[in-house]
Amino acid sequence: MIRKYRIGNPIPTDSVIEDIPVSQDGIPYFNVDEEAKELSLFLEKEDKIFGLGETVRGMNKRGWLYTSNNTDDPNHTENKHSLYASQNFFVVLSKKRKFGVYVDTPGKVSFDIGYTSLDKLAVVFEDFDADIYIVTGEGVLDIVTGFRKIIGRSYIPPRWAFGFGQSRWSYMTADEVREVADKYEEAGIPLNMIYLDIDYMERYKDFTVDESSFPEFPKFVEEMKTRGIHLVPIIDAGVKIEEGYDVYEEGVKRGFFVKKDNGENLVAAVWPGRVHFPDFLNDEARAWFGDKYKVLTDQGIDGFWNDMNEPAIFYTEDHLGEVFEQIEDFKGKNLDIDSFFAFKELVGSIDNNPEDYKRFYHEYKGRKIRHDKVHNIFGYNMTRAAGEAFERISPDKRILMFSRSSYIGMHRYAGVWHGDNQSWWSHLLLNIQQLPALNMCGFLYTGADIGGFGSDTTEDLVLRWTAFGIFTPLFRNHSALGTRRQELYGFENIPSFRNIVRLRYALIPYLYSEFMKAAMGSRMLFKPLCFEYGDDRSSQVEDQLLLGESIMLAPIYTQNAEGRYVYLPEDMKLVRFRAYDDYDEEIMNAGDHYVRAGLDEILVYVRKGHALPLAEPGQGLEEVTASQLKYICYEAEPKSYELYSDDGISRL
Ligand code: GLC
Repeated sequence: MIRKYRIGNPIPTDSVIEDIPVSQDGIPYFNVDEEAKELSLFLEKEDKIFGLGETVRGMNKRGWLYTSNNTDDPNHTENKHSLYASQNFFVVLSKKRKFGVYVDTPGKVSFDIGYTSLDKLAVVFEDFDADIYIVTGEGVLDIVTGFRKIIGRSYIPPRWAFGFGQSRWSYMTADEVREVADKYEEAGIPLNMIYLDIDYMERYKDFTVDESSFPEFPKFVEEMKTRGIHLVPIIDAGVKIEEGYDVYEEGVKRGFFVKKDNGENLVAAVWPGRVHFPDFLNDEARAWFGDKYKVLTDQGIDGFWNDMNEPAIFYTEDHLGEVFEQIEDFKGKNLDIDSFFAFKELVGSIDNNPEDYKRFYHEYKGRKIRHDKVHNIFGYNMTRAAGEAFERISPDKRILMFSRSSYIGMHRYAGVWHGDNQSWWSHLLLNIQQLPALNMCGFLYTGADIGGFGSDTTEDLVLRWTAFGIFTPLFRNHSALGTRRQELYGFENIPSFRNIVRLRYALIPYLYSEFMKAAMGSRMLFKPLCFEYGDDRSSQVEDQLLLGESIMLAPIYTQNAEGRYVYLPEDMKLVRFRAYDDYDEEIMNAGDHYVRAGLDEILVYVRKGHALPLAEPGQGLEEVTASQLKYICYEAEPKSYELYSDDGISRL
């Protein structure tokens, strides 16, 4: 059951699509403190908190302060409070009580979950205006499904988007892209997507292609497609200010860019230098920007990633001016303990400055609203612009799209990637831990930059991360400019990478079926163990996942580990894959085990009463029928498995 409560006068977010009347009763469970702008809840010792989507720290969110304030921060360390997304749904779970809470507000809100006080959960608002949804149900999975039903069906990508993708900031020319494709082919590692980062554009201008480095682009797109490779270009939120650039000129003429209080268009800067930001919250501007994607779909493009849409701001012209003025005061000075840090702070205040988010306004649902009040739905609306336009541009076929910034509601239009992680073992664990929380909030098509985006990677990290990544819907290796190359063919153990990636393809019938069942049935694809198993030990496990109905994963995420401890909540069958057609099976009893796993092995635990279908090689991304599959089961007798099948491309 779901009840809706209202505090203040909330700005709508369009995240909930069901019309639920506002209850006049008091909000259950919570204490309301208007003065402190806070809802609070006493936490029992046994209460665990799950959810909040893409955040730092573990699965049980207890013990930290999380702030929904979409931020371009490439250092996802434990001390952070905000990442790129605001996904304000969580569940309080213990044997005694279970309920879900969705805090729907487009502005800044903090979730103090046993941070200030160990046994208190406080939702602290900047503006005390929000719709609060309290979701109850028999079990935690019913609660999640109940919530997911009111926010609408999750985005469904084309089936080819379950293939493997290679990315890099940036492949600079068409020939460099060809070389990547060739080398994958030579290495015998399947590949279905190559991502084009910002340098494919002409001076970082959205919806342009650099003619000199990518000549005859439509032909090139076609050439790659005949090799089974979709090119997926990036689109950034900022529109370059440049005379003669049509997107800029049209946007200015039609008044579609965000404005300052005095009515002038805000001048900010991102990759291209000075930009204007489209007012994605304005219906007309959103439709206009969305239609621009047609420039690329007309050239054969059928997938996109939307970036820098928190929005990331290198500087605003106004604040930069202030900084230059103030910097004069420091010139020639002996910078001491006070002035040195003041100087550093001044220089450090240039990018992503909270004050800059108060400098501009949106035309949203007939009202002029200052950006910071709706900050967390900006990236959502950029992606919504594209999603709504795709329904017009490509009414029959699905288009691949994922975004960096998000808010609940965006899950209907696209997936997300987990942003600029690092080539750190701890970020492989973070990847594992973020997945169920994202699923709770409706985001099913997700994946992290495999191998890590920032920092130099190592071959063993890429091996272990790829061995986990084959299970995530978005399966993409991406890395930053200036870091060690991490295309799989560049490492020594090519046969191991080949076997791992091929196993992904053998698993696609299962992964796609489970994904589709989760999308259609508003269910989770990745679950913490305790969402299905009621024993106390299961609720302590933060580094294993249930994936779909049939399997459990216990990935290795530490360097030099030859194995790891694995907890089995019930008897399961361990399948030790060296390749899709080379594996051992072993029945294991419930309980704790130390399980060895070589760098070239992928371990899957098959649950009792379920089946894991495996495709034969060569079938790649094509649809397969149930009879063409091999089934691995715990039992000697094969169990039935409901294979989901469709053409993989028609809109549903
Ligand atoms: C941002 C994105 C990253 C991309 C880079 C250059 O940092 O998160 O994925 O490679 O910008 O476009």
